[in-house]
Amino acid sequence: MMRQIVQDPDPVLRQLTAEVPREKIRSGAYKDLVTEMVETMRAHGVGLAAPQIGESIRLVVAEDTEALIKRADLTPAQVQERKRTAFDLQVLFNPVLRPIGAASRIFFEGCLSVKNAKLTGLVERYLDVEVTALDEFGELKIWQTSGWPARIIQHEIDHLDRILFTDPCRLIPNSLMAFEEASIRFKGKSISEVISELGVEVARSGREGIGQVSRFGGA
Ligand code: CO
Repeated sequence: MMRQIVQDPDPVLRQLTAEVPREKIRSGAYKDLVTEMVETMRAHGVGLAAPQIGESIRLVVAEDTEALIKRADLTPAQVQERKRTAFDLQVLFNPVLRPIGAASRIFFEGCLSVKNAKLTGLVERYLDVEVTALDEFGELKIWQTSGWPARIIQHEIDHLDRILFTDPCRLIPNSLMAFEEASIRFKGKSISEVISELGVEVARSGREGIGQVSRFGGA
């Protein structure tokens, strides 16, 4: 069953999410929910967090495919610049993110829960990360990834910490715009061309604690 995607400012996007007990995963208590999340994600995008369908638990799903990458309006150079690569379905309960090194990248991103992905803005994310989580069987898994998959997973884990990309701790000031407008205006352009054209402040690069600053509402 396809689920409705909750839109900002729905309070569920700002609620503390609950850890999922391993025994409940192993008993199959979340089997249907995972199926629904995967189905809903595949209809709309490359990642989804449980709060986005109104479930306040620490669960995310993510997947990217060659077909989606081909369909994205990106030149081969842009695909390479983003390090956008296909990856198998990831079902991650209680994911814990650890950056590997301090390298980061700035790109536009959007969110299914922010005006149905019709808004986009520049966000700095770690280039390389490691995620420790429980999979759909409740087994421990460690996923090391890089580039666009790493961006996707940082965005989704942010949802579990009730952070949206449009929050001041994420969005690079003066970079929020309509997705349609951005795709026309910056078609085929490199990210350095975009940044210089927008004249945005990107001195944040390399600072400590990307993805860890000022969690919304604390805790
Ligand atoms: Co989102």
